[in-house]
Amino acid sequence: MSTIDEKTIIEALSGLKHPQTGQDIISGDIVQGITIRDGNVGFLLAVHPDIAEAFEDIRLACEERIRALPGVLSATVVLTAHQSAPSLSSSGTSSGGSAKGKPPPDETIPEVFTRIKSVIAVASGKGGVGKSTVAVNLAAALAQMQGEDGQSFKIGLLDADIYGPSLPKLLNVTEKPELDETKKIYPIERFGMQTMSIGYMVQEAQAMVWRGPMVQGALLQMLNDVAWPELDILVLDLPPGTGDIQLTIAQKIPVTGALVVTTPQNLAVADVRRSINMFDKTKTPVIGILENMAWMSGPNGERLHPFGTGGGESIAAETLNPFLGGLVLDPALQEAADAGQPVITYAPDSLAAGVFVELAQTVTAAVKDLTP
Ligand SMILES: Nc1ncnc2c1ncn2[C@@H]1O[C@H](COP(=O)(O)OP(=O)(O)O)[C@@H](O)[C@H]1O
Ligand SMILES: [Mg+2]
Repeated sequence: MSTIDEKTIIEALSGLKHPQTGQDIISGDIVQGITIRDGNVGFLLAVHPDIAEAFEDIRLACEERIRALPGVLSATVVLTAHQSAPSLSSSGTSSGGSAKGKPPPDETIPEVFTRIKSVIAVASGKGGVGKSTVAVNLAAALAQMQGEDGQSFKIGLLDADIYGPSLPKLLNVTEKPELDETKKIYPIERFGMQTMSIGYMVQEAQAMVWRGPMVQGALLQMLNDVAWPELDILVLDLPPGTGDIQLTIAQKIPVTGALVVTTPQNLAVADVRRSINMFDKTKTPVIGILENMAWMSGPNGERLHPFGTGGGESIAAETLNPFLGGLVLDPALQEAADAGQPVITYAPDSLAAGVFVELAQTVTAAVKDLTP
């Protein structure tokens, strides 16, 4: 029995040429994220959406060549620009009366959401404010909670920050996701959460150069092509900002509620306001505003405010959204991140861990209110 490895695959693909530049697709950095499991092979072809159509033949040729290799059971090749950018006007009808767990009859909403009871989006106006820190640690705290039936919550965590994926580092994931024979990609389980990130499949540096529609395609694939199990809550770490991608997410994904992360400085307020406006526009409820790095513990246990105060509270008041309080500036968060663990497992007695346990309770209460 011959075993398939990356080298065999690359050799099999050599000679296939970019339809426009004539460059070998192997030398052009187009083939990404090769995944092999028990004879099932998958990878991405990262191409600009403008040439996606011209690439369809290449995609099929790739699959054919891989399937022809001895020992290969299946081959799945995905164009990251596969899905065209969704029409922003097609799904604007209100869906007031849709039954619980059933998305409105709108084929643009991925089917996966029939298995996911609620979705919490963690958003921020700009990067570096602690969005991923909040998403990961909130999800981990939720995974330790139990529902009314005494069962642990089933929690998923999707790193939708395609440009700057954080999960590989924050959860210390170095392995690639497995594929099954139906060509689905399995989420990777960590700390009781089902997790997926584009960073599991491509390197961060590659992810950063992607353009809008490719990003949307990649994101939708992480919903449609991933074997998400039944989930009580899927936590989404959104890309920062309020561009087309965020708007698409807000429209394509039935977000139950959004959590907006900000910092105490007033400078960030304009970005946060834009973020909240976007959710208003798409009728996504905002669960509340969380002010990160709001305070730190002083030598006598007093609260110090190195970055000022009031940013989160004032924007919450101005936009009539709940203020969820502040997340402490806590070295334990940084250490936990470096260790590839959520803070509630790495340092369960830390101040930050306490904040996330409370935040998880606030979020589950809000989800309950927001779910019909
Ligand atoms: N409350 C906090 N205390 C200490 N460090 C924090 C805190 N929040 C975030 N950080 C650190 O700040 C950096 C940026 O946070 P991150 O969650 O990656 O931001 P974003 O996802 O918004 O870009 C990370 O190194 C993270 O560990
Ligand atoms: Mg991030």
